[in-house]
Amino acid sequence: MSTNKIVLIPGDGIGPEVTAAVKRILASAGAEIEWVEHHAGLTAIAQERGVLPQQTLDAIVEHRIALKGPCTTPVSEGFTSVNVQLRQKLDLYAAVRPVRNLSGVSTRFEGVDLVIVRENTEGLYSGIENEITSGVVTSLKVATEAACTRIADWAFDYAVRRNRRRVTVFHKANIMKLTDGLFLRCAQRVHDQKYKIIEHDHAIIDAGCMRLVQDPTQFDVLLLENLYGDVVSDLCAGLVGGLGVVPGANIGNEQAVFEAVHGSAPDIAGKGIANPLALLMSAVMMLNHMADAFHDEAYRRVAEAIKQAYDKALEDGQKTCDLGGGLDTDQFAQAVIDRLKG
Ligand code: NAI
Repeated sequence: MSTNKIVLIPGDGIGPEVTAAVKRILASAGAEIEWVEHHAGLTAIAQERGVLPQQTLDAIVEHRIALKGPCTTPVSEGFTSVNVQLRQKLDLYAAVRPVRNLSGVSTRFEGVDLVIVRENTEGLYSGIENEITSGVVTSLKVATEAACTRIADWAFDYAVRRNRRRVTVFHKANIMKLTDGLFLRCAQRVHDQKYKIIEHDHAIIDAGCMRLVQDPTQFDVLLLENLYGDVVSDLCAGLVGGLGVVPGANIGNEQAVFEAVHGSAPDIAGKGIANPLALLMSAVMMLNHMADAFHDEAYRRVAEAIKQAYDKALEDGQKTCDLGGGLDTDQFAQAVIDRLKG
């Protein structure tokens, strides 16, 4: 395996704790990675470099792949989300979040195996908000045919590559006839023109959410615009054990940033009890991506070894508190490392 440089953004809150644990596991598994550390979020502000330093962006552009811990965004005031900025500036237009049951983590449902594909660059997250007059504010929801078509194409192509059966669009086109209507129409057109091999349907998001919590196994790939994708990701995390077990990737044509769905969890930050599994699973996605990007199957073998090790750890009852276990972050990392060699 050749050594490749990957950007590491530890992030805020529990970010440095979970990224340290994941680095340790990857090193023990023999992943040849030279980490290039850069900062964003509150950590970067503390270093007086601004919330998203140009050096951090430049490093991701140069090295093309990053592993990122969560970054805090202040509520109702302060700076624009680092995460939203990063996705928009690097045009990481597809967020992909696989949501699956894990062996050893018992939840209300079995057999959950769905993938959320979220449009990552526009919608209400365009950040165009105005105070029209005192007491009256607006937020502009942006949908462009180009972005709606691009994400639909990505989702259907993903379904083909991963042998998935169906792509379901969640929308609210009955109310937002223009924006969500465009999203829906673009998906339908992309399907009809190129992907008839994949089943395609849609649901109004409120009814779709009800169906999700009644029986998530009826869904396969879910395609959503930005805000709906954000909300439904956390909802789906709750179906399989919570935010500690759902990984993610933000993919563009040039760069990819891998990060867990969860945030910086200020309520448990600094206690050393965060579950590093969601970021570890994101790192496994990253290793598979690296295998393709660097034409090096050794990364895929390391990814598989890590996956088997964390599965085994969970089956052996080695779990962090969020999953009902008693391990802290480092103890869980050690439990995975102990199982790497079989
Ligand atoms: P959160 O995901 O940070 O936390 C929600 C709940 O889940 C908390 O009770 C937390 O303790 C728990 N939790 C999350 N990750 C966990 C883990 N790995 N192990 C164990 N428990 C875990 O969501 P919240 O509280 O809404 O957001 C906190 C901050 O994170 C905000 O500033 C938000 O903007 C930011 N955020 C950043 C994201 C990113 O960087 N991609 C994504 C989501 C939120």
